[in-house]
Amino acid sequence: MVRGWALAVLLALTWPLDATAENQAYIEDEAYIEDGKDIYVVCAPCHGPEGQGGGGGDYPRLAGMPYEYLKSQLRAFKARERINIPMFPFTVERELTDQDILDVSAYITEMELQTRLADMGEHVDGYVRLLAAKKVLQIPRAPGDVEAGKALYDEACARCHGANGEGRLPHDPPLAGQHTKYLKKQFTDMLGDERLHPRPGKLIEPLSADDVQNLLAYFSILDD
Ligand code: HEC
Ligand code: HEC
Repeated sequence: MVRGWALAVLLALTWPLDATAENQAYIEDEAYIEDGKDIYVVCAPCHGPEGQGGGGGDYPRLAGMPYEYLKSQLRAFKARERINIPMFPFTVERELTDQDILDVSAYITEMELQTRLADMGEHVDGYVRLLAAKKVLQIPRAPGDVEAGKALYDEACARCHGANGEGRLPHDPPLAGQHTKYLKKQFTDMLGDERLHPRPGKLIEPLSADDVQNLLAYFSILDD
């Protein structure tokens, strides 16, 4: 049997890309993961079969994100509080009921994503290696001043988004292991008042273009 503390250490090491036991504790009893798996079939062409995101970073990685956050965003898309044209047809009531939201959020939060390619030895052929590589999320280093990004992040963002960008349960999303292009668009949307963020006047509006670039550079190394 795995001792509780050993499991906790293991889970702590694999967060943010794997759901932690604490996160799983938020999943309601009424959420059916098996049904969520069926629903996710329509999401996979954009968000990737492993929840790793895609479209060169247009489609965010979803795997392992906090359950409460996933639910809140899907409800916000549905209520048109968060406007996004590609998501529109998939979040109308006919396609995604509130029960579906619980189910698919539970499935996604439990998806596990690797950030490092396992050592497969020398005798594995190129095709198998390629298939394995597609399941691994690696964020390329974004341009910008990583040190300056870290300093700004530690001061203004870490208390909610986590010391290493891992997010904070139950609701604050991780910023580590997320695609740069997607995050960049979120900054544009938040600065243009098109996306909500807590206390925007204090946290978001003061960010200069350089600040955003430096933050993106810092986020891009957090999954290494
Ligand atoms: C046609 C492509 C497409 C499909 C299919 C799609 N999405 Fe998305 N999704 C997007 C895009 C693009 C965004 C980013 C929106 C933005 O820039 O604000 C997004 C964002 C999201 C987010 C917010 C992530 C975050 O970090 O805030 C969630 C959650 C999500 N999608 C879940 C789903 C689920 C669940 C399904 C299936 C029921 C689905 N999506 C189907 C394109 C798609
Ligand atoms: C008080 C807590 C708090 C602080 C401090 C905070 N955030 Fe957030 N952040 C949130 C929450 C909550 C959301 C989700 C908002 C929503 O519901 O759409 C979020 C969302 C985001 C997103 C979008 C993530 C996604 O997956 O779409 C980005 C990017 C972001 N924050 C950047 C920052 C940066 C940069 C700072 C520091 C300058 C910061 N935040 C400080 C709570 C916080």
